[in-house]
Amino acid sequence: MAITGFIWFGFVVMHMLGNLQVYQGAEKLNAYAKFLKDLGPLLWVARIGLLVAFVGHVVVAIQLKRENSNARPVSYAKNSTIQASLASRTMIYSGLLLLTFLVYHLLHFTLGITNPEHYTNVYQLKNGEMVHDVYAMVILGFQQAPISIAYIVFMFFLALHFSHALGSMFQSLGIFAPKHNPTIQKLSSALALIVFIGNSSMPISILLGFVK
Ligand code: HEM
Repeated sequence: MAITGFIWFGFVVMHMLGNLQVYQGAEKLNAYAKFLKDLGPLLWVARIGLLVAFVGHVVVAIQLKRENSNARPVSYAKNSTIQASLASRTMIYSGLLLLTFLVYHLLHFTLGITNPEHYTNVYQLKNGEMVHDVYAMVILGFQQAPISIAYIVFMFFLALHFSHALGSMFQSLGIFAPKHNPTIQKLSSALALIVFIGNSSMPISILLGFVK
């Protein structure tokens, strides 16, 4: 879970840094999207790697959930949790919500199925090349309040998932001694917050008309 989760965390951070170029305008974001498309076979290697990591992550999550239930088939009469955080107790649910997000996100931005009218624009780069206008697609998408609000809600669940996942990852891999756990937990929450702010800033600033 730790390794496959880390692959996805790394992707989400890189994807966010790439997407933040929306603040630098259409030329920058569209040239970046074109650069990624031009990676050709390498892009497919990355896509397949992400897919394998995702499936592996979900399969192990289901196995762990089963092992937990089998270890205690009769649930506690009274559940008075003291130690476990909300994030840790809801990992399976935040994970399922992220799966829903991902399916919607791919239908929206990668396949252009949910809003085909946002997907068909083309842009002429300064070098004359005609490319898919990813910038217009993002702006037109996030100008719709329901879409922007849905993204912000999903980004909250992503942050909740990450805030627990990163801490557990370091424990699973045994990278730091247990005495560092409180510091690691704080660091994980801080990283999750940065990803939340970075990703949510885009729908918020587009919806409010700061980026047009
Ligand atoms: C506000 C936040 C986000 C924005 C603005 C955004 C934007 C985009 C855009 C524009 C594309 C299509 C790129 C293209 O066709 O050139 C895309 C693809 C994708 N996004 Fe996001 N994204 C966001 C958050 C996320 C998150 C949180 C995840 C993962 C949990 C994610 C996973 C993906 C994946 C897997 C693809 C497909 C990449 C590919 O196969 O080429 N995105 N995103």
